[in-house]
Amino acid sequence: MFKPYKSLSYRKPKILFVRTSKVCFFSSIKTTRKFSRGKFMGFLQIASAHKAYQTPEGTLVRALDDITINVRSNEFLTLLGPSGCGKTTLLKTIAGFEDLDGGDLILEGRSLKAVPAHHRPFNTVFQNYALFPHMNVSQNIAYGLDVAGVKKADRDRRVGEALEMVGLSGYGGRKPSQLSGGQQQRVALARSLVLKPRVLLLDEPLSALDRKMRETMQIELKNLQNSVGITFIFVTHDQEEALAMSDRIAVLSHGKVQQLGSPTDVYDTPANEFVANFVGTSNLFSGRIVESDASRGLVTIETANGRRLIAKGRDFANGSAVKMVLRPEHLRLVDSEEFEGAGTLEGRVKDVIFVGSVIHVHIDVGFGRTAIVHHHHDRAGIRNAIEAGANVRIAYSPSSAHLIAAERG
Ligand SMILES: Nc1ncnc2c1ncn2[C@@H]1O[C@H](COP(=O)(O)OP(=O)(O)O)[C@@H](O)[C@H]1O
Ligand SMILES: [Mg+2]
Repeated sequence: MFKPYKSLSYRKPKILFVRTSKVCFFSSIKTTRKFSRGKFMGFLQIASAHKAYQTPEGTLVRALDDITINVRSNEFLTLLGPSGCGKTTLLKTIAGFEDLDGGDLILEGRSLKAVPAHHRPFNTVFQNYALFPHMNVSQNIAYGLDVAGVKKADRDRRVGEALEMVGLSGYGGRKPSQLSGGQQQRVALARSLVLKPRVLLLDEPLSALDRKMRETMQIELKNLQNSVGITFIFVTHDQEEALAMSDRIAVLSHGKVQQLGSPTDVYDTPANEFVANFVGTSNLFSGRIVESDASRGLVTIETANGRRLIAKGRDFANGSAVKMVLRPEHLRLVDSEEFEGAGTLEGRVKDVIFVGSVIHVHIDVGFGRTAIVHHHHDRAGIRNAIEAGANVRIAYSPSSAHLIAAERG
């Protein structure tokens, strides 16, 4: 386990950015780490960031298409999106490895536009660790401190503390090639954190690890971030990883922020169809609002095939085209028709997939749609009763049905 940062004494680092041969002294930036989460709302503003690339084929790719995010002090912010959506580009422009075409980056009120990468109080952890193979673990971690001229006794103490923090005390003499992938990634983290950056940028740092190690590292990294008081901007394409680790998630697609919110915001109330499908599994039903029951806060939507479904009403007028989002874990397979207040659907079981803790039941609900139900089976008898071809009834609570505006086109 990572150790809390409290015991460490990195009050006044002289050096805040190191990347291979580039080193910068930047002692003018005050490094207080006593501010509370969210206190400085305008800590790092990504303001209307634009960046386009000319491809060799002659087309223009809008890698960043008007991105605005107010990064909070001390938060764990995740940039989540599919490959090619602009995550790495955004991270590179924050680090200063790439310039923006338009927009600005503002750190505590000061534009970073004219500040070169090695003068920004940021540090990047890469997916491939980028450790020096000929140096041992301690030397790798000490490198930035050495270049900054930190005295030997101070340096050795700080390296020792950093090793302890990432749970690698006793490994200082090993070469990177004598470590597992997870251990190498911890060394890369220690090497960055020993320099006490204001913001740590992490580009898919766990993606090279196997599943078990990745899950362990997710918890440890999150705990570490909590204790060090450094803002983390973490990039991943893995929605489970984003949900598990983040204070907030920015869901990106085609260079645009689709939604910015807490993991529960993004999962429970996706802003649009892209988010509903990319984060978790969704059952989506299109329709039009045909009835509103203001006293019960319910609306009825009618699908193109005349099927009527109820949902908790939001601010949609009668006649609005909407999509209803139902998560598979909110659907229940029921026997009786008497489910007062519940929404219901009928269908025929297509596939039953046993995944251990639950069974995934794919049900043809008759209007060209398949509903996916995650069914918790507590008895083998019930598990066996749900077979392909069986007619079933599905119930859901209208309050778990989330409505989004239907998109055109
Ligand atoms: N140097 C470049 N030249 C041309 N196109 C690029 C360059 N870098 C990135 N792109 C394009 O910009 C888009 C965003 O890329 P990237 O930020 O690497 O995405 P992600 O990290 O989310 O996978 C992609 O379409 C990619 O092909
Ligand atoms: Mg990338």
